[in-house]
Amino acid sequence: MQVSSQQAKWFAEQIVNWYHQHGRKTLPWQLEKTPYKVWISEVMLQQTQVVTVIPYFERFMARFPTVEALAHAPEDEVLHHWTGLGYYARARNLHKTAKIVASEYKGQFPQTLEQVMALPGIGRSTAGAILSLALGQHHPILDGNVKRVLARFFMIEGWYGVKKVENQLWSLTEAITPKNNVTEFNQAMMDLGASLCSRSNFDCLACPLVSQCQAFKHEQVKAFPHSKPKKEKPKKQVYHLIIKADDKVLMEKRPSSGIWGGLFGFFEFQSLEEVELFIAQQGFNGHMQSLASFVHIFTHFELTIHPQVFKLTSIPDFAHEQPIIWYDVKDHPQVGLAAPTKKLVKVLDAMS
Ligand code: ADE
Repeated sequence: MQVSSQQAKWFAEQIVNWYHQHGRKTLPWQLEKTPYKVWISEVMLQQTQVVTVIPYFERFMARFPTVEALAHAPEDEVLHHWTGLGYYARARNLHKTAKIVASEYKGQFPQTLEQVMALPGIGRSTAGAILSLALGQHHPILDGNVKRVLARFFMIEGWYGVKKVENQLWSLTEAITPKNNVTEFNQAMMDLGASLCSRSNFDCLACPLVSQCQAFKHEQVKAFPHSKPKKEKPKKQVYHLIIKADDKVLMEKRPSSGIWGGLFGFFEFQSLEEVELFIAQQGFNGHMQSLASFVHIFTHFELTIHPQVFKLTSIPDFAHEQPIIWYDVKDHPQVGLAAPTKKLVKVLDAMS
């Protein structure tokens, strides 16, 4: 698909004018902008909406006001500030990146696209967003919001998980991103995709692009962008053993690879027999109670969690290969917990 310079100019003008009238300009990371703030906000905003991100961003900045503060913080504390945002690899990568920026760049966030893209967890779109929003550099972006706007406007066929479709969208965003006002343009494209051009709550009549939008013209807005071909998610089951003594529950730090890596969680087993065997082997005294099972949905599978509480009658000596903590359900120590663990902590708090 070719975009004429006239069409590109028209597109950018509509978007930048819309930004001046409707774009968001006073979000916490837009005030006294620095590459550090923009970087943190862009990583939080991957897969998470602005309203959810705001309180997390503010708490994160209060605790880690500089890249050095983040670099020198313990990983558990960084993960604690991420608890509830999901996709924890983002937090581990932020921490790794902060260490690299502190040691290799003397605390100054790097300023070329290649350097930024070489940092852990930062792809081309996020690198472009950071450098264009924070420093006004000319880079196109292609996050989920921008993909949706372009797929509709140009009526691009196919799912953008397919490389060919993604490449086509990159060519389009390169063609329409203007040399001037790139900060406003990129912010407005993301805002437009998140508001008027959202997946199901779109409002075409208020959109500045409606007069030339191909999907609107063909009454196909709902059908674009094309979704990933549906495949049923595999289903898995696990048993979470909650060893409890008064208000304290035993948790282990999960290995850094795999789901919930680096977070603290309950002991996990594949069957009730394995749970019982573990308790017998440890020589724990107490009694078991099952809590209601629940489903946690991941991108690639559905996990049913069967929580088993084992109430100890006495606190044993306990040796374990992974670090452990006795987590006080009333006190919330500063460690990262996965969403289902946090949910169970709430249930346990209400029970005790
Ligand atoms: N999604 C990713 N980055 C964003 C931003 N800067 N504004 C709104 N939504 C976004």
